[in-house]
Amino acid sequence: MKELIIIGAGGHGKVVADIAKKNGYKIISFLDDSVQKQLESYSIVGTTDDIDMIHKKDNEVDFFIAIGNNVVREQVFKKFQEKEITFPVLIHPSAIVDETVKIGRGTVVMANAVINVGTTIGKNCIINTGSTVDHDCILEDYVHVSPGVHVAGTVHLGKRTWLGIGSSIINNINICDDVIVGAGTTVINHIDSSGKYVGMPLRRIN
Ligand SMILES: CC(C)(COP(=O)(O)OP(=O)(O)OC[C@H]1O[C@@H](n2cnc3c(N)ncnc32)[C@H](O)[C@@H]1OP(=O)(O)O)[C@@H](O)C(=O)NCCC(=O)NCCS
Repeated sequence: MKELIIIGAGGHGKVVADIAKKNGYKIISFLDDSVQKQLESYSIVGTTDDIDMIHKKDNEVDFFIAIGNNVVREQVFKKFQEKEITFPVLIHPSAIVDETVKIGRGTVVMANAVINVGTTIGKNCIINTGSTVDHDCILEDYVHVSPGVHVAGTVHLGKRTWLGIGSSIINNINICDDVIVGAGTTVINHIDSSGKYVGMPLRRIN
């Protein structure tokens, strides 16, 4: 019986749980560091401190880090990446992913996302609902492509970069590590310094 423990019992975690069910996981529960959190349809069975213990007790259980914040998601993953824990790739059945696409462990591809030929997606990325990533892109680890984002062909996104909802990146653009692109923003030039960028023309807000 396929069993998954999702780390992070927020809204993102609930969407991940739905995708996990559609990927054949029959038993799904959560870990969360906030003691107040409750979920209607799932049990919260502990905190991130319990990952080791659960894994040792039953190494058939898979884990998935469903934390929206790219920096925190990386921190949690790095604590456990050396252990033989399975962090699966979860892909919603409605997503269209070309057979040549490479996807690193712990990445989720949500409903109606499209990833085109020749693209490589790193570990622990979020390709969110209805977003498109076109041909020959490279998305480094811990990137978040929010709902409704369009990334054109041959774009490079650095580690932990977050593209806000509905933003667009034209083709052949490089965006470095640790960039936040604001909701609805269109990027037409390379970004080579980390920070938050919004508007047209693009401006850095901090
Ligand atoms: C970019 C963002 C992170 C900035 O947040 P922030 O640091 O709190 O910034 P503020 O709200 O203080 O805004 C600072 C300035 O940037 C402007 N600004 C912020 N976001 C903007 C956007 N998306 N487009 C245009 N201008 C924007 C504000 O109007 C403000 O301008 P001013 O200084 O001239 O008044 C946020 O606005 C955003 O777009 N988040 C994306 C959320 C998202 O995609 N969620 C989906 C999750 S799945």
